[in-house]
Amino acid sequence: MNNNKIIIFDTTLRDGEQSPGASMNTEEKLRIALQLERLGVDVMEAGFAAASPGDFDAINQIAKQSSNITVCSLARAVERDIKAAGEAIFPAKKKRIHTFIATSPIHMEYKLKMKSDEVIHRAVEAVKYAKTFCDDVEFSCEDAGRTELGFMKEICEAVIQAGAKTINLPDTVGYRLPNELTAMISEMVKFINGRAIVSVHNHNDLGLATANSLAAVMAGARQVECTLNGLGERAGNASLEEIVMAIKTRQDIFAPLYTDIICKEIYPSSRLVATITGIEPQPNKAIVGKNAFAHESGIHQDGVLKHKETYEIISAESIGLEKNSLVLGKHSGRHAFKDKLISLGFELDSEALNEAFEKFKDLADKKKEVFDDDIRALVTSEFIKIPQAYEIVTLSQNNCNKGLASAAVTIKHKDEFISDAALGNGTVDAIFKVIDRISKINGVLKDYKVSAVSQGKDALASVIVKVEFDKNNAVIGHGLDIDTMMASAKAYVGALNSFIRIKNLSK
Ligand code: KIV
Ligand code: ZN
Repeated sequence: MNNNKIIIFDTTLRDGEQSPGASMNTEEKLRIALQLERLGVDVMEAGFAAASPGDFDAINQIAKQSSNITVCSLARAVERDIKAAGEAIFPAKKKRIHTFIATSPIHMEYKLKMKSDEVIHRAVEAVKYAKTFCDDVEFSCEDAGRTELGFMKEICEAVIQAGAKTINLPDTVGYRLPNELTAMISEMVKFINGRAIVSVHNHNDLGLATANSLAAVMAGARQVECTLNGLGERAGNASLEEIVMAIKTRQDIFAPLYTDIICKEIYPSSRLVATITGIEPQPNKAIVGKNAFAHESGIHQDGVLKHKETYEIISAESIGLEKNSLVLGKHSGRHAFKDKLISLGFELDSEALNEAFEKFKDLADKKKEVFDDDIRALVTSEFIKIPQAYEIVTLSQNNCNKGLASAAVTIKHKDEFISDAALGNGTVDAIFKVIDRISKINGVLKDYKVSAVSQGKDALASVIVKVEFDKNNAVIGHGLDIDTMMASAKAYVGALNSFIRIKNLSK
């Protein structure tokens, strides 16, 4: 085993998806999974197979499409979860089951209501059962950050004997400081002594997830669990781009340690995740935030013009952000468009290219300048399209008096064109009501986000909605259009289509 390589374990599709409002449908997950392979991630946690039929299906499809990446499913230390995980990842060439149980006194007493020997027994049984599905089994001591060191050694010894190849020690609640991580990981690396890979999984509750992960790497951890844009439960997980770029930029400290991440794919990956989840990184987010490479003050601008490194420790280009990229317009031809797609990392077959080009022409007719982010959004929305049980054909709306509005739509459903109209409190309400009337499925809107994809008054509008069509099923829909109301209608219909698909899946 190469002891200098840091294994990058990405959990954007599992812990990242646990971010409030970040749920994704199968097509969206498949698209992100493809990008994770391009990015050079070693292990991708594709989800939690036992959580729902939709989660199982997404992992299973990702496993089928994967080539070189290890596909992993999370599973609690219970038979049902492990079986679902094993079956979901079965088609992957490289597969892993990640099973976990809590080991801190507070979790064992209040959450599990179990004594420590029972916890060890469950962990060992889980690892042994997981080994019947695949050889590569990871075990996590949930809340390791608050686990007593003696007990941590005891349970790790037992699961290593049972066959666990990776021992993950999560700071589940983001409580620890870097020097504490250094002490814990050094001690555990010494104890495990090469019998399993030591991994960390840090949460960002005190803003220390990246610092803690780097401290752990320096103390001997050889796998880091992280997410794109730092998505994840509560304040998120350690951010992949921060860890990777810190190791790369500070080779004076980290060499000979390295990762196999293709850094030029960092920005495209970050944009894809932001577009799909609708969760934009904060503008001042390290590496991928909108302002990460913006020099505002005159003194800084002057310095950068004279010598870039006066104020830049990494270049925008090194993460795949082309600052002076060519802007397309309505006179740009198919060739320029194709070149642009290639430079943005999209490889389309000729049919998809034709469709995307039509969409681009349509947009360029309405919008003077088409920026990279417009093209990314356009192509991404094509990739993540799900089977369209309902398809919006036309929309017209009117603002009446005192906030009352009307909307009329025509929708295509099973080769039939259905038109109807409704009144609502505001235009969006009217649009969603008329769609409910046509589909005869009533949705409850839980979230509605609108953002401009790029610059200009004529910017493309991206709308993301979260809709509950039945009590247990909140689904996400995306809509992209130059007209915000049309984007809203498309997003709502997208959520409806997603819901119908999930219903059919669980039949
Ligand atoms: O934060 C955590 O402890 C987790 C485990 C399930 C690995 O996400
Ligand atoms: Zn976590």
